[in-house]
Amino acid sequence: MKIFLDTANLESIKKFNDMGLLDGITTNPSLISKEGGNPKDGMKEITKIIKGDVSLEVVSTDYIGMVEEGKRLREYGRNVVVKVPITPNGLKACKHLTSEGIPVNVTLIFSPNQALLAAKSGAKYVSPFIGRLDDIGQDGMHLIKEIKEIFSNYDFETEILVASIRHPLHVIDAAKIGADVVTLPPAVLDKMLNHPLTDIGLKNFLADWEKLKEGTDIKI
Ligand code: G3P
Repeated sequence: MKIFLDTANLESIKKFNDMGLLDGITTNPSLISKEGGNPKDGMKEITKIIKGDVSLEVVSTDYIGMVEEGKRLREYGRNVVVKVPITPNGLKACKHLTSEGIPVNVTLIFSPNQALLAAKSGAKYVSPFIGRLDDIGQDGMHLIKEIKEIFSNYDFETEILVASIRHPLHVIDAAKIGADVVTLPPAVLDKMLNHPLTDIGLKNFLADWEKLKEGTDIKI
């Protein structure tokens, strides 16, 4: 399973990329706006730091506007994937951009039918938002199961990119289902990495080592 980071924060991107954890990045206008500064510079910088796919989202809602923005975004870096919303114009733009060799991530997916239609339009990724479904009392992970079954039945090459992840259990469940990608807020990736028993264990190892070398000049 590929791990993407769901952020436009350069510090977080560098931190986890240096650990070799990141296969890509997803952003959206909200995440970009949270960082402040010149958004174009930030987006370009991300495409330089990360080797894998970087999703950058259009903000036009008309077909021509989406296609033009998609082409401009693609010039920010060779690894840009253009993110479009699942609307009629979004799918038309998806088909157009895909036919020109520009990969597309269709976002704001909340139903299996939306995922099916995005795959039919040639999307490289579909982004179902599971946390936002959980937030309104629906089972977000059930949507992932349904999309997985549908895509497997027909050998769609479109990858399932699980988005709106809220906690580490979402990641485990998505991996069990066989989702292709999870995109994680930095805080969730931190929680996956950390464990209180690891901290206690390390503290004890180091304390024991200090005792052993007391009064000596032993070094490893
Ligand atoms: O990338 C978009 C998606 O992950 C949004 O998540 O937390 O705003 O529902 P959230």
